[in-house]
Amino acid sequence: MLTLGVNIDHVATVRQARQTVEPNPIAAALLAELAGADGITAHLREDRRHIQDRDIRLLRQTVRTHFNLEMAVTEEMVNLALEVKPDYVTLVPERREEVTTEGGLAVAHQIDRVSYAVTTLQGAGIPVSLFIDPDLLQIQAAHDTSACFIELHTGRYAEARSESARHHELESLKNATAKALNLGLRVNAGHGLTYWNVYPVAQIPGMEELNIGHSIMARAILVGMERAVREMKQAMFGALG
Ligand code: PXP
Repeated sequence: MLTLGVNIDHVATVRQARQTVEPNPIAAALLAELAGADGITAHLREDRRHIQDRDIRLLRQTVRTHFNLEMAVTEEMVNLALEVKPDYVTLVPERREEVTTEGGLAVAHQIDRVSYAVTTLQGAGIPVSLFIDPDLLQIQAAHDTSACFIELHTGRYAEARSESARHHELESLKNATAKALNLGLRVNAGHGLTYWNVYPVAQIPGMEELNIGHSIMARAILVGMERAVREMKQAMFGALG
């Protein structure tokens, strides 16, 4: 059954706007879990713009569902993951000047570097997911690294402005999922998913988990975390009124 990973980075974004102690992303994670989140995701960025190292350690101790650590493919991050031992790691590309993760990891162009990180982490018992565009070349490369999972980047789908463009992007997500499943990869997806566009992605056969952050946090500010998470689960299953 399809699951929801709630990304709590932007609770930390609000906290860091004032360099203070609230709102607390750990409390947000607990409330999200109470409301039915199946996993909690946090991205420790190299510039520490939102989530801090302490948050990662506290999340590891408190999350009762599963904890997905998103991080760049760097030695610093691999060492941190080996120490913290999240339930799984998602490797993402990272550029300091970007507002958010803008594209998928170019696995095919850095296969040795990514394979090394995957082998190191999985060798320590931490399954790895690679955040990639729905591109057949990248899927084959992800498989070649021996990663357990991929997370398909849904940004192009989310940003499509016309019905036909949206249809085209959805088809490429479907084809990418089928190809990955065929190769034995497990498939997650995320980025830019909202209450209004999530349902068609949630319907893709074999999709395992959707990782959603901004849209849930935006709603949580207005209606509260628990309601926002509950409503996202309803939207995933086509039951949001
Ligand atoms: N998945 C990955 C790999 C991401 O980097 C992000 C953004 O941090 C998300 C999912 C969630 O994206 P959004 O905040 O747009 O829901």
